[in-house]
Amino acid sequence: MGRLELVVLGLTCCSAVVSGAKLGSVYTEGGFVEGVNKKLGLFGGYVDIFKGIPYAAAPKVLENAQRHPGWQGVLKAKGFKERCLQATITQASTHGGEDCLYLNIWVPQGKKEVSRDLPVMIWIYGGGFLIGAANGVKFLNNYLYDGEEIATRGNVIVVTFNYRVGPLGFLSTGDPNLPGNYGLRDQHMAIAWVKRNIAAFGGDPDNITIFGESAGAASVSLQTLSPYNKGLIRRAISQSGVALSPWAIQKNPLLWAKRIAQKVGCPVDDTAQMAKCLKMTDPRALTLAYKIPLTGLEYPILQYLGFMPVIDGDFIPDDPVNLYAHAADIDYIAGTNDMDGHLFASIDMPAIQKHKQPVTDEDFFKLVRGLTITKGLRGANATFDFYTAPWAKDSSQEVRKKTVVDLETDILFLMSTKIALAQHRANAKSAKTYSYLFSHPSRMPFYPSWVGADHADDLQYVFGKPFATPLGYRAQDRTVSETLIAYWTNFARNGDPNMGPLAVPTRWHPYTPESGDYLEITKKMDNSSMKQHLRTSYLRYWTLTYWALPTVNGEGASPAPPTDGPDVTPAPPTDGPDVTPAPPTDGPDVTPAPPTDGPDVTPAPPTDDSKASPMPFTHDPDAGPVPATGDSEGAQMPVVIGF
Ligand SMILES: *[C@@H]1O[C@H](CO)[C@@H](O)[C@H](O)[C@H]1NC(C)=O
Ligand SMILES: *[C@@H]1O[C@H](CO)[C@@H](O)[C@H](O)[C@H]1NC(C)=O
Ligand SMILES: *[C@@H]1O[C@H](CO)[C@@H](O)[C@H](O)[C@H]1NC(C)=O
Repeated sequence: MGRLELVVLGLTCCSAVVSGAKLGSVYTEGGFVEGVNKKLGLFGGYVDIFKGIPYAAAPKVLENAQRHPGWQGVLKAKGFKERCLQATITQASTHGGEDCLYLNIWVPQGKKEVSRDLPVMIWIYGGGFLIGAANGVKFLNNYLYDGEEIATRGNVIVVTFNYRVGPLGFLSTGDPNLPGNYGLRDQHMAIAWVKRNIAAFGGDPDNITIFGESAGAASVSLQTLSPYNKGLIRRAISQSGVALSPWAIQKNPLLWAKRIAQKVGCPVDDTAQMAKCLKMTDPRALTLAYKIPLTGLEYPILQYLGFMPVIDGDFIPDDPVNLYAHAADIDYIAGTNDMDGHLFASIDMPAIQKHKQPVTDEDFFKLVRGLTITKGLRGANATFDFYTAPWAKDSSQEVRKKTVVDLETDILFLMSTKIALAQHRANAKSAKTYSYLFSHPSRMPFYPSWVGADHADDLQYVFGKPFATPLGYRAQDRTVSETLIAYWTNFARNGDPNMGPLAVPTRWHPYTPESGDYLEITKKMDNSSMKQHLRTSYLRYWTLTYWALPTVNGEGASPAPPTDGPDVTPAPPTDGPDVTPAPPTDGPDVTPAPPTDGPDVTPAPPTDDSKASPMPFTHDPDAGPVPATGDSEGAQMPVVIGF
């Protein structure tokens, strides 16, 4: 070794001792980037944080994003970039901008040497394909999707990024004039950027896990099914949403495109003309041309969701249920919260939230009817009878309200997740499959005591909020958070949630259709936390009984089409049976429950951005059903249910 090398080595060594390991400026395909090196108080390690690295150029309206041309000098990546243009919670104005395709990276470092070959976890936010941002809502002075806790506790790299949402992300004419899926392609570009560049940050490009919640979870699922991601993704986690969720695919995008075109004064009869005009329209006007009504709804909110991924014959080449061979080598965790439907149920039927307001048979029937449009009155009757059967024994208001939540949870999340798990397993080659149910009860203030884990409740624990903002949480919440981070990061490391540096409370067995195994995640876990066959009789009902009913077309298929009020825009589904509704969202930055103060005060969960989103399966009845046999998870060959 030469003298010079010794000197260099010496310098490296000493500076490391003084300041800890840090990356300094990193060379990427676009040029150098420089982040911030932060010392972690408690453990003495460090984390390098890069905020606002462009992964694509500013996109043109309703066009696929293109690669970023790069920059001269060193890009200071020290602050979050604005979110992609979207409506605010009031839907009266917009926030964010068009130049929004940026990502953020957290790299945990030890004291001496910079990390190498770390597993990489890429987060895809939810928000009903309508709202959301890479950093998420700010809560107790801490962003919901801050990657620091996951990165430093699990010793993994965390990446978050923005993608286009709402009409700008998903408007489609259903033909080549506006193929749609702009937001999904943004996601793919972010994943591909990470694959190409993460080694320079100390990541292992062969160990990439994508994870997401709600619309982000359905996005995760769709990315694993798209041929565009071949070889990019090693593992995936879907929290409350899959490609088969009834709100994940818009089967009639032209209907919604026409509504926007009409609102902004573009031609509606010729899609080439329409596309040309829409691309020249102010993107803020396009965004505001769609509004989702949140009160006084005639139909379940699901029916008012218009902008989401489409089967474009390219990025999503076919009905997702037929694309699982693409995920044959991608390890997969999918699960739901035990009351994922609660948020949507309380929009559709506010009485479930109010102690004194009763839920009558008529109220429930109306809800069922609105959620089973494709099967007409017979579908509504059968579903009503099936779900109300337990009321013969106990028809207390609490039981009724829980039934309302169960129905929405089943339709919006659980059934499609079970089918997706079965499809993944049936097509898997090297891949492993795991199923979970998250049931740590919601901490939202004012919720009735029977409410379990609501939609998006899992986010705060996955992102380690009970550690980042301990004042808002109890010891048991930290246990839940520790558990989730351990399973998630172990899985990202080697495809097995049980193995890795972080200890887990009990062994999580892989899912098979025969065992119907799933892990119930809550504050107290032991060897009885592995459970089997969650709501299998309901899965059988939907995939066999309900599925076999004739699909109703035309007159009477749907209740009179919702008219749209003056300002209320989006007219819901009108016609066809296949018109699938889409997910509710709720406010963007909504919610973050007010931080109250004291330690004991209930921490209101950050909810947020993500809460949004669900939707129905649709599809054709001609697809082959698949018989449920015995006790196995509703049957081997998953069917797609039409609601
Ligand atoms: C992923 O990371 C683990 C742990 O660092 C390592 O054993 C494995 O070889 C890596 N690569 C792949 C492709 O799994
Ligand atoms: C649905 O149930 C109602 C009330 O029980 C009954 O009158 C009606 O005929 C049923 N409709 C169908 C199509 O089954
Ligand atoms: C579960 O754990 C308990 C307590 O550790 C033990 O007694 C029991 O045998 C275990 N059961 C199984 C099925 O492993």
